[in-house]
Amino acid sequence: MSTQTDISLTINGAERALSVEPWTTLLDAMRDQLGLTGAKRGCNQGVCGACTVLRDGRPVRGCLSLAIDCAGAEIATVEGLSDGNQLAAVQQAFLDASAVQCGFCTPGMLLVVQALLRENPRPSIDEIRCGLSGNLCRCSGYRKIVDAVAASVTSAP
Ligand code: FES
Ligand code: FES
Repeated sequence: MSTQTDISLTINGAERALSVEPWTTLLDAMRDQLGLTGAKRGCNQGVCGACTVLRDGRPVRGCLSLAIDCAGAEIATVEGLSDGNQLAAVQQAFLDASAVQCGFCTPGMLLVVQALLRENPRPSIDEIRCGLSGNLCRCSGYRKIVDAVAASVTSAP
């Protein structure tokens, strides 16, 4: 007997169909079935934040979210941030500040920053640090990432 369930959800504005096992994570479904590999599989146990996506506007760990629980949800991934070749402001700020080294943490960081700025358009440095505290970066020492977010705040209209 099949244990697969068909679900649909919206990812980056497009309705997507998935056939998932009860234990399939959102991260695995997106990467393995839809080819959306922007969200990274780092620790795969909820610690590093590399798998972060937005679910109904809030950051969630893709590796801890069951796909079946996301039926009907609106998911945003890093693939949906830019408008064609036009980078989102926060992506451009990361580039301008050289806040990307290996880039493994970057998709998760960008989505957390998107959610942070939506809730708090002018965060202080401490609020930026606090907002990013659930996402680990093994390369950068965080300084340039915080600088990038601060710059995108200062340059916002
Ligand atoms: S891969 Fe999900 S938190 Fe590390
Ligand atoms: S840039 Fe390499 S983990 Fe953050």
